[in-house]
Amino acid sequence: MAGRAGRIQDAVAVVTGGASGIGEGTVRRFVAEGARVVIADLQQGPGAALADELGDGAIFVQTDVTSEQDVAGAIDRAVEEHGRLDIMFNNAGIVGAVGPIAQTSVDDWDRTVAILLRGVFLGVKHAARVMVPQRSGVIISTSSTAGVVGGLGPHAYTAAKHGVIGLTKSVANELAQHRIRVNAIAPGNTVTAMAAAASGSLDDMDKMSEMIAEGSPLGYAGFPEDIANAALFLASDESRYMSGHTMVVDAGQTASGLVPTPFHRARNGVLYEAGRRTRSTSSD
Ligand SMILES: NC(=O)c1ccc[n+]([C@@H]2O[C@H](COP(=O)([O-])OP(=O)(O)OC[C@H]3O[C@@H](n4cnc5c(N)ncnc54)[C@H](O)[C@@H]3O)[C@@H](O)[C@H]2O)c1
Repeated sequence: MAGRAGRIQDAVAVVTGGASGIGEGTVRRFVAEGARVVIADLQQGPGAALADELGDGAIFVQTDVTSEQDVAGAIDRAVEEHGRLDIMFNNAGIVGAVGPIAQTSVDDWDRTVAILLRGVFLGVKHAARVMVPQRSGVIISTSSTAGVVGGLGPHAYTAAKHGVIGLTKSVANELAQHRIRVNAIAPGNTVTAMAAAASGSLDDMDKMSEMIAEGSPLGYAGFPEDIANAALFLASDESRYMSGHTMVVDAGQTASGLVPTPFHRARNGVLYEAGRRTRSTSSD
């Protein structure tokens, strides 16, 4: 007897940054739901190992998302293998340049933006090249809560992630006429190698998970599977009426304000206005 059809059965997908973290979680979820996936990542070892593990469901193509030739090549490989491209997930990323703006070097800025924004542009561009003649397809890009508000990430990262959301809206407007949907995901803190590197606890994922849980309004950490579930929804026909949207997946952190904890814990009688601590006129 035939098994249950997956939610994206037989769809062909390319996932950049698919060798680790959110990308790896999404590759696994997509394959489990019937898709055939090209894992496009800089990291040969883990990318090839994941493709081996997933058998017929996945192939690995070593890709640097800052290179137009590489990104075009990964997409062309999907078309050569499977004849089409249904889902493009532009997800590869790094933390990039950190520190005060006055000390940020132009080289560090350019390198960060090349991976986080040029890389997404190239994925969108070459996916559109294939999807427009097909008159179908779904493009998803990973932004961040740092792409929605300031203060949650370093400057170049924040600027690039805001750019991902702008590009998503702009291209959704153009490609709707071709029946192509274009959406973004804005994850909050998620337990991955990148988040661990950003916090300085690279080897200790349990500690990382605890730290994220402490800062989470829901009291528990987000994992790659939580973001993969959002990607699956946006990749499937369940979201057929959604385009130009940014889906925030952050336990309510941005909805609660930037640093909710001190304010939640503060006693009445104190007001915080425009950065100043003043007396409240309301009684306790
Ligand atoms: N982890 C978080 O807390 C968090 C929060 C918001 C957004 N994000 C975003 O999620 C995405 C995935 O990050 P993650 O947390 O899973 O990190 P990760 O480090 O586990 O995975 C990132 C992957 O991108 C790949 N990559 C990096 N530079 C590349 C390049 N030039 N070309 C191709 N591949 C490259 C890496 O090899 C790695 O496999 C990123 O865009 C990141 O900015 C992460």
